[in-house]
Amino acid sequence: MELLDKLNWRYAAKAMNGKKVPEDKIARILEAARLAPTSSGLQPFEIIVIKNQSIKEKIKPVAWNQSVITDCSHLLVFAAWDTYTVERINYMFDLTNEIRGFKNEGWENYRQMLLNAYPQKDAEVNFNHAAKQAYIAFSQAIIAAAFEGLDATPIEGFDPTAVDEILNLREKGLRSAVLLPIGYRQEDKDWLVNLVKVRKPMEDLVTVIE
Ligand SMILES: Cc1cc2nc3c(=O)[nH]c(=O)nc-3n(C[C@H](O)[C@H](O)[C@H](O)COP(=O)(O)O)c2cc1C
Repeated sequence: MELLDKLNWRYAAKAMNGKKVPEDKIARILEAARLAPTSSGLQPFEIIVIKNQSIKEKIKPVAWNQSVITDCSHLLVFAAWDTYTVERINYMFDLTNEIRGFKNEGWENYRQMLLNAYPQKDAEVNFNHAAKQAYIAFSQAIIAAAFEGLDATPIEGFDPTAVDEILNLREKGLRSAVLLPIGYRQEDKDWLVNLVKVRKPMEDLVTVIE
């Protein structure tokens, strides 16, 4: 199947059947998320993978009682940094130097520029910027899930404060941004499965400037 066939096949499943997804498939989805591009390469988020059924049961009521939260195999929580700190910025720049095996003046100047700009900003502004980066990885995970023939339902319908509490995210300097239950669609219980995909026409989406 071509990528576009897989993207047409995928949809935001409303019912899943509880079947477990093999770990190698989940690992490839997480790797796709890890490979996502992010602003300045900071990757300002973490992904919590919930396999534990009782934790899923705790999250369901604070996620509009959506059944996919408990009927999925793995529940991914994309949690963004609550702010940018000197330590967090330095960590990624140091990691880059370590992995590439050299220091570069331009890169070090860029580090200083970020250090002089980001940590001073309002934490809410920084969290929102970090959450946007998390969404890029989230999107890559959705595509990767479709590639694996798995269903993945993007979920913004939840109370982030409640999820942060359940997972103790604030203590780790994280805030939940978006959820992604991964599993297998349950066709006989899903009103959406046979409905035609609706997208606005290309001409309403794209403007080409020659
Ligand atoms: C960021 C985001 C949040 C969403 N939140 C929910 C949600 O909480 N519950 C749900 O059933 N669908 C949710 N959706 C699914 C969208 O409604 C769905 O992707 C859209 O209608 C397009 O349909 P399709 O994905 O089935 O092709 C969300 C989608 C995105 C991208």
